[in-house]
Amino acid sequence: MAKVLLLNGSPRPHGCTAEALGEMIRTFEAEGLETELIQVGAKSVRGCLACGKCDALGRCVFDDLVNETAPKLEAAAGLVVGSPVYYGSPNGTILSFLDRLFYSTRFSKHMKVGAAVVSCRRGGNTASFDVLNKYFTISGMPVASSSYWNQVHGFTAEDVKKDAEGLQTMRNLARNMAFLIRAIEAERERGGLKPMERGAFTSFPDGK
Ligand SMILES: Cc1cc2nc3c(=O)[nH]c(=O)nc-3n(C[C@H](O)[C@H](O)[C@H](O)COP(=O)(O)O)c2cc1C
Repeated sequence: MAKVLLLNGSPRPHGCTAEALGEMIRTFEAEGLETELIQVGAKSVRGCLACGKCDALGRCVFDDLVNETAPKLEAAAGLVVGSPVYYGSPNGTILSFLDRLFYSTRFSKHMKVGAAVVSCRRGGNTASFDVLNKYFTISGMPVASSSYWNQVHGFTAEDVKKDAEGLQTMRNLARNMAFLIRAIEAERERGGLKPMERGAFTSFPDGK
């Protein structure tokens, strides 16, 4: 059974982001997909050192939740990243976590379906959403979308339970993601997936 990995960047395991991800998990399960939720936000996750050791090691020099999550992402068909909005951006812990997870791993993320989910009380949601989507769109990952940008509003989980449109957006997102995962799996079985071209790595258009 295909699996979707969900990351919660919030330090509050029963907060607003958790409420949004919970709605997605119930929908994924109704769609026959397996899920695993990883609580990232309350962990101590340092940022990337740019030491480049992951090139040789294929994992991060800091052996923490990032390295534990890497094989789970490798096995997953989809990734949902949830984050509360902090000062108009995704929260710092999830950004440190994603920088190191995406930079240090060497397995292909090509055609794993990605979705970002943000939770804010009032503002900064679409800017945060854009930041999270960038991890997917540099990795050959199709991005699932919904009936609105993937956001809920609230200060507590109780607020999010009242955000009927936010929760509807989460259900539609999970259904669309399940559809894409099944379609990609079928096309992969048919032999239709072409490998990504690699090799060029230039900093300026003329290669100098
Ligand atoms: C440090 C910090 C900064 C925040 N900054 C914003 C913000 O810029 N915009 C906003 O609408 N809410 C902001 N909030 C509120 C949270 O984003 C919001 O309550 C969110 O839904 C909490 O999700 P959670 O319960 O999953 O942690 C901030 C909260 C904290 C703790």
